[in-house]
Amino acid sequence: MGQDPPVRMSDLAVWEGTFDPQVIDEAFKSYNLTIATTVFAVGKYTRFLRDFLLSAEKHFMVGMNVQYYVFTDLPGDVPGSMTLGVGRRLKIVKVPKFGRWQEISLRRMELIQTAIEEYIHQEAHYIFCLDVDMRFHGRVGPEAVGKLVAAIHPWFYWYPRNQFPYERRNVSTAYIPLDQGDFYYQANVFGGAMEDIHRLTKTCREHLECLPLSRASVCPCPVDKSVGVEALWQEESHLNWYLLRNKPTKLLSPEYVWDDLRGSGAKEIQLVRFSSVIKDNAEVRENI
Ligand code: UDP
Ligand code: GAL
Ligand code: MN
Repeated sequence: MGQDPPVRMSDLAVWEGTFDPQVIDEAFKSYNLTIATTVFAVGKYTRFLRDFLLSAEKHFMVGMNVQYYVFTDLPGDVPGSMTLGVGRRLKIVKVPKFGRWQEISLRRMELIQTAIEEYIHQEAHYIFCLDVDMRFHGRVGPEAVGKLVAAIHPWFYWYPRNQFPYERRNVSTAYIPLDQGDFYYQANVFGGAMEDIHRLTKTCREHLECLPLSRASVCPCPVDKSVGVEALWQEESHLNWYLLRNKPTKLLSPEYVWDDLRGSGAKEIQLVRFSSVIKDNAEVRENI
């Protein structure tokens, strides 16, 4: 502790001061892009939607076209009276509620994959997939747009790679050996061009569903809990496996995926843009 974060982290990512917001906004205006934004609010997580959306309207891709997709089992709990900015729309997608919080979380890969295939690919140019238990506090704009975008986890960027919380059991399809890996990414935020995120979600979904040593592309077996190797951090472990082999073209600093639990003391963070709120897991999750 007390050390500066490693250079391999600091130099490559998007940080405050590494871009000129006005220049970027001006450049992107002429592209007239639509950004699909998926957010899941299943069960008690609908309580996070209002603040998530209100803060997104203030800070997320302001001036661009944004198509929100709210995936929920409780459409009646989606805040109805919100006025969205010009060019911004919200669609509610009804989804089933799985019994375990882990499965609710990891099934997002499959649901996003099929939604991209069925309609999102026609409705937007880029897509961002976000956790709902979060709030925007600062600008997240087109500087974050790229072909394959991922964000560095706020709790691990100063650790050596052998201490990243990757899946370490080699029977898992998410296995990463101790001497591999550049960054530990948090699954709360990822995004990119439609075909890139389609490939990412499809690959993660297949790995989540397949028996550990079978790499068949279509696999009839249920989620890997049936064979006892649900990865340590579910889809986040699979995301990290994928991003090791398909390096993000845009790397977001932890400014873009902060955690309120870490507070505001970190000297390398000039601006918290998007942060997880503190929640009582035992209260909001289904099965604990
Ligand atoms: N989620 C949900 N309902 C649940 C559990 C999870 O809607 O019962 C969705 C929600 O979008 C949440 C995401 O899955 O933000 C990831 O779960 P969670 O935020 O609990 O994981 P953490 O960020 O705490 O690891
Ligand atoms: C936690 C976070 C989890 C997961 C974990 C990885 O701080 O809440 O979602 O990313 O870190 O160790
Ligand atoms: Mn979360």
